[in-house]
Amino acid sequence: MSPFFKAILSASTAALIALTQAAPAHPPPRHVDACGILGGLNATDITYQHVVDCYNAIPFDSKQAGTTLSTMLTLFKDFYVFTDSALSPTATRPFSDDPVDIIGKLETIGRTKYTSDYKFHTDILNAVSSLRDAHTAYFSKGMYDDCTVNTINGQDALTYVKNYARDVTGHSHDPNARLNYLLATQSFDEERRIFVDNEGDFSLRVTVPEAPYVDYQLQCPHLTEPVDLREEWIVLPQTHIAFEDVDSFVTNICLQPAETTPPAAENSVKLLYKPVPQIIKRAEPEPEPETVTPGHQYPGAEQLLAGNATVFYHLKDRPDTGVVVCHTFLVEDEERDVVIQGLKVLNDRKVTNIIVDLQSNTGGYAGFAAFLADIFFPSSRPLTADLPSDIRVSKAVQQISAQGYNSSHSGFFDAYMYVDMKNGTGTGRYQNNDLFEHPITITRNGRTNLWTEKTNIYAETVPTSYSAAVSSFSWSDKVNNIRIVTDGLCGSACAMSAYFFTRRHNVASYSIGGTHGEDLSMFSFAGASVAKLSDVQSWFKDSNVVSPMADLPYRSLVAFSWLEMYGEGRTMPLEYDAELYRPTYRLDYTPANARSREALWNEVAAASWK
Ligand SMILES: *[C@@H]1O[C@H](CO)[C@@H](O)[C@H](O)[C@H]1NC(C)=O
Ligand SMILES: *[C@@H]1O[C@H](CO)[C@@H](O)[C@H](O)[C@H]1NC(C)=O
Ligand SMILES: *[C@@H]1O[C@H](CO)[C@@H](O)[C@H](O)[C@H]1NC(C)=O
Ligand SMILES: *[C@@H]1O[C@H](CO)[C@@H](O)[C@H](O)[C@H]1NC(C)=O
Repeated sequence: MSPFFKAILSASTAALIALTQAAPAHPPPRHVDACGILGGLNATDITYQHVVDCYNAIPFDSKQAGTTLSTMLTLFKDFYVFTDSALSPTATRPFSDDPVDIIGKLETIGRTKYTSDYKFHTDILNAVSSLRDAHTAYFSKGMYDDCTVNTINGQDALTYVKNYARDVTGHSHDPNARLNYLLATQSFDEERRIFVDNEGDFSLRVTVPEAPYVDYQLQCPHLTEPVDLREEWIVLPQTHIAFEDVDSFVTNICLQPAETTPPAAENSVKLLYKPVPQIIKRAEPEPEPETVTPGHQYPGAEQLLAGNATVFYHLKDRPDTGVVVCHTFLVEDEERDVVIQGLKVLNDRKVTNIIVDLQSNTGGYAGFAAFLADIFFPSSRPLTADLPSDIRVSKAVQQISAQGYNSSHSGFFDAYMYVDMKNGTGTGRYQNNDLFEHPITITRNGRTNLWTEKTNIYAETVPTSYSAAVSSFSWSDKVNNIRIVTDGLCGSACAMSAYFFTRRHNVASYSIGGTHGEDLSMFSFAGASVAKLSDVQSWFKDSNVVSPMADLPYRSLVAFSWLEMYGEGRTMPLEYDAELYRPTYRLDYTPANARSREALWNEVAAASWK
């Protein structure tokens, strides 16, 4: 590894105000309390210690903590879909989780005597993160290009990062996929139509790091002696809201605005809805303008077409091979036309083999995820996104759904949104509230709860003209002519797409990264749909049903999985069905393929088609 993990740095929600307000008419008051000091600093003067001191100065409020905890407990008891599955005994490869009793963890927090508000919120964050439901690279810049990191904080670098992936991060049930999240990745810059380097989660933190700095020792090719680097965290304030002491920090930054308070002036405010203010790396100096012409990054891979989510390449040394990159599933339906157009160009160029590259795609719409996989197999099935799914049913959910059948105010608890799989062809909507009114009982790991029957979120059928357009292409319906490439960061809808490619259509997959010689998942957090607690609260309000959860005192963002999917014919929810995450082949990152997608595509093509 090289110092891609440059300096990491950063912390806090705070004090950009000093930069954005006109100079005060009077000298600002001198502050003695820690948040007052923080609030009075210019952004560039804030250090790690300033942030830690302010956070630690916020007193613990047992009443607010009680409300927070009670809401979180109800959410995990009655709404979150994986509370029971998370109790499963130790998972099989490539996962390595111990059972997580999230209710027990929250109850333990409830019994703990806190003096620090920050510690309380951090403990909740860590408990939720232990559910691991959510995301070796080599990039580097400037003078430390091509250096290898020998040690981090005095420990072997890879061991250090792997331990961090094992103990701290929460993106996947697979520690090697979590490792991929920590290290550098590439994303597609839509404007310049090239891949650019991003730092991983090791160098970008949303909670206060363990210490004010990270020590690296590097070995560089042009130097005989190792280089010692101490990189201090840089604090990047995330809000322009002013505060001048602990009280105003809590009121202005942490607490929900009181209903009677008029909304803050639009111009100054960028709110951050986190229980713990975010720590984000300070903006780096603008990168040197690159000399790459838009769309021309690789000498050996010609970019043919770039839509908003998909990019098409033709390999020059392998004229029979084309590449379809899909870097996001957050797309308009029109992107389907881009896909058809790109595939047509490849077919016109006599391409017979296709690599679908899904690396670092963190999801979006399930419909497009299914479309992308199914368009390569036009004869096999209609283009619809269907995986059997179910939803936790509590008394409150039943009340809200009974009030809101086919109405806009009951949100996701409206049976009209779902397919009645027992009626006719099993593709039509529910015509009544049976889905929520007549739940079934499922017992998992000793917990018995009510669930809906298996259903699907209703989606319009994709016109058959799309399948017709590709039916004569030389790779269509030919599993040996198609490969996919993923990494642990392929998440959510991307994971569903990779699942459709590999399990529905039996396409061979390459998963890149992780640790040499160990397993690596193709993807992470497959098979759930996510809702925000604040949305659920508004559905209760709009339906005139009393929510069993009080609103959170803090402006926290709480999102949770409310619908779970299953692999076809499987009884374990896809989120926990470890076997379905295993790729056909695993690839190691090398200095070449980590820097250049072209190198990776050629590696996959050579391994697949000689
Ligand atoms: C903040 O920065 C401004 C502009 O650079 C400067 O005038 C001011 O004195 C600084 N304030 C503090 C508290 O350092
Ligand atoms: C791509 O995004 C732009 C900007 O949002 C939009 O105008 C355009 O319609 C999109 N194209 C497709 C194919 O979705
Ligand atoms: C659902 O609502 C739409 C729009 O109001 C209406 O056209 C449709 O007939 C309703 N369907 C049912 C089954 O109630
Ligand atoms: C089955 O679906 C059809 C049309 O989608 C509908 O008219 C009928 O009422 C449904 N039957 C039941 C029992 O819901």
